[in-house]
Amino acid sequence: MAFRSVFIAVVLGTALVVAALVLHSRRPEVEVAQPSAAMVAATGKCATCHLQESAAIVHEFERSEHARRGVNCLDCHRPLPGQEAVEHRGFTISAGVTAGSCAQCHRAEYDQFLRSRHAAPAFAAVRGSEPFTAEQIEAAERFHPGAVRRPPNALAVQEGEAAIVRGCVACHAVGRPNADGSIGTCTACHARHQASVALAREPQTCGQCHMGPDHSQIEIYNESKHGALYNAQRRFMDLTADPKKLTVRDMWVPTCATCHMSGLEGQRVTHDTTERLSYWLFAEISERRPTYAQGQAQMKELCLTCHTTGHVERYYEEAEAVLRDTNDKVAAGMAIVAELRAEGLLTPAPFDEPIEFVAFDFWHYYGRTAKHGAFMGGADFVQWHGNYELEALRVELEAMARELRRGHGGGPGADAADGE
Ligand code: HEC
Ligand code: HEC
Ligand code: HEC
Ligand code: HEC
Ligand code: HEC
Ligand code: HEC
Ligand code: HEC
Ligand code: HEC
Repeated sequence: MAFRSVFIAVVLGTALVVAALVLHSRRPEVEVAQPSAAMVAATGKCATCHLQESAAIVHEFERSEHARRGVNCLDCHRPLPGQEAVEHRGFTISAGVTAGSCAQCHRAEYDQFLRSRHAAPAFAAVRGSEPFTAEQIEAAERFHPGAVRRPPNALAVQEGEAAIVRGCVACHAVGRPNADGSIGTCTACHARHQASVALAREPQTCGQCHMGPDHSQIEIYNESKHGALYNAQRRFMDLTADPKKLTVRDMWVPTCATCHMSGLEGQRVTHDTTERLSYWLFAEISERRPTYAQGQAQMKELCLTCHTTGHVERYYEEAEAVLRDTNDKVAAGMAIVAELRAEGLLTPAPFDEPIEFVAFDFWHYYGRTAKHGAFMGGADFVQWHGNYELEALRVELEAMARELRRGHGGGPGADAADGE
């Protein structure tokens, strides 16, 4: 009897030790390598005091995957080279936390993100190439020629610094350059202390920036069958599912993230939101991207996890027809303005005459919206917020052009072109 219990105890003990070793070896490297006793204690101290000072942050952190995996406050707030270090209650911290901070542990996601237009191109769209180093410009231009090496946006410059900072940059800072040499902010989609995949999969997270008349993606999504179904059924879905194992049983209706990023049913999950696109829809005239074939093939493969081939091919044919038709309409409208400029009836400056604002609305609001609507299932945006407005504004552009020509020779009277 005694021998038997000793034997059982030895076997159980060995099994426990082996299990612990196996478990330990499977832990991510960061977790094994980093939290010294001092670091763990540090989080305790930060958290205890911050529960008094800013309790919400600590509660958010406690609910995160990071807290479960032993990532601590200092892992993110420890200053990297280049970041401003401040002495704070016995610790040296950085108040700013950048994509570079996250990249210490998430290099793969950071590298994919760098290739996307969410990185340097997004910031350069407002500020031009000036804030970036020569190396950063070179690296980004390899993926997006002309997207970073450009001047600051003329409209933004005209509106002034206050409007840029709280307006344009609040959205376009997703690709800002940081003092530590990294680019961008990951918390645009993940939030600072939640680091949540579920949050990033919510359409409204993308809709913070992808909204309004110039890029109505969230409005289009909410109108689409996908949006209607998602809004009705999201509570039955598992938005927390592991990205590497995401199936249609977890999410059977796509959100923005599903189509542009997720690895549904074994597809490769990516932080390069450019990867599955085939056109530059945001452009005045939409051309094929150099990666047209593979971009479209990847997106179609995704549709095919839930739809049949005929359905998807038909959908793309109709959307491409809208795109070609919109290109023609936009080209015709913009030619009206180009001719006036060639005749010397407009100044070379881009935004100093009423007709230039009408022309900007023409392609930048309604041309884009018609194309976005066609590719993402928003009928109302192809029609009433797209084609209808294109017709109305073309007529207005023509009337304004007639007025300008009539006024020409009549001196300042040319100004009478009040299109409203
Ligand atoms: C003894 C209390 C205490 C401890 C310990 C403490 N903090 Fe703070 N911390 C504060 C207070 C108070 C503020 C807010 C100051 C204010 O309102 O301007 C603050 C502010 C901050 C800020 C914002 C700084 C800024 O300039 O915007 C960060 C980031 C921060 N703490 C992180 C940490 C981290 C990380 C730790 C642990 C390594 C930590 N704190 C430990 C009390 C503390
Ligand atoms: C996953 C990384 C990460 C971890 C872990 C983390 N933080 Fe932060 N924290 C951030 C980011 C990102 C910001 C925003 C910094 C910026 O604006 O550049 C931030 C900002 C803050 C601020 C200023 C918030 C404000 O709105 O004024 C405080 C205070 C803070 N963190 C405290 C903490 C404390 C305490 C912990 C641990 C309980 C912690 N953080 C853990 C990433 C992290
Ligand atoms: C010290 C290392 C470390 C740092 C720094 C760090 N993380 Fe993490 N992060 C982890 C670990 C470990 C996990 C859990 C394992 C995994 O999913 O890779 C994780 C998981 C995540 C997840 C998945 C969470 C989920 O719901 O499954 C996201 C998103 C994430 N981190 C974002 C960030 C962002 C954004 C930052 C910077 C603000 C950051 N991380 C900084 C180590 C880190
Ligand atoms: C903080 C604002 C912000 C958030 C949040 C955001 N985006 Fe973007 N996104 C941008 C900006 C700005 C651009 C334009 C970049 C450029 O072309 O200059 C962009 C561009 C894109 C593009 C086009 C890329 C290309 O190559 O033309 C896609 C696709 C995209 N975003 C998808 C998403 C998805 C999906 C989400 C949510 C998971 C999301 N975005 C969240 C700001 C944001
Ligand atoms: C609400 C968030 C938001 C604001 C504010 C905003 N943008 Fe954007 N911007 C976006 C998004 C999202 C896209 C991507 C559109 C797409 O790909 O369909 C974009 C696209 C662009 C593009 C075309 C892409 C490129 O790289 O050329 C330019 C240029 C641009 N924005 C400049 C500006 C300027 C200048 C301002 C301020 C005057 C501004 N934006 C304000 C979110 C915003
Ligand atoms: C445009 C929004 C957006 C931005 C910006 C973004 N992410 Fe994500 N991230 C997502 C989405 C969406 C998912 C989940 C994809 C899916 O559905 O499986 C995700 C997933 C993750 C995961 C979990 C990956 C896995 O395979 O378990 C990590 C880690 C992560 N992101 C880190 C980062 C880091 C680091 C950055 C900054 C370099 C970043 N993210 C920037 C939207 C974003
Ligand atoms: C059912 C899949 C699907 C969903 C859901 C979806 N998109 Fe798209 N998206 C597409 C397709 C297809 C295109 C056109 C791709 C191409 O260029 O071939 C597109 C284009 C875009 C573009 C245009 C890039 C450019 O060139 O101007 C942006 C930005 C974008 N989507 C963002 C979003 C956002 C934000 C959401 C959620 C509010 C969303 N998408 C939801 C499939 C989807
Ligand atoms: C995760 C699954 C999923 C993905 C991925 C997906 N869809 Fe869907 N889609 C659905 C579901 C579910 C419906 C509603 C079908 C129903 O009512 O039977 C739907 C409906 C539609 C409809 C409306 C059909 C109608 O007549 O009501 C269109 C069009 C559509 N999808 C196109 C696409 C395209 C194009 C793609 C890829 C860019 C795509 N979908 C990707 C799940 C998906």
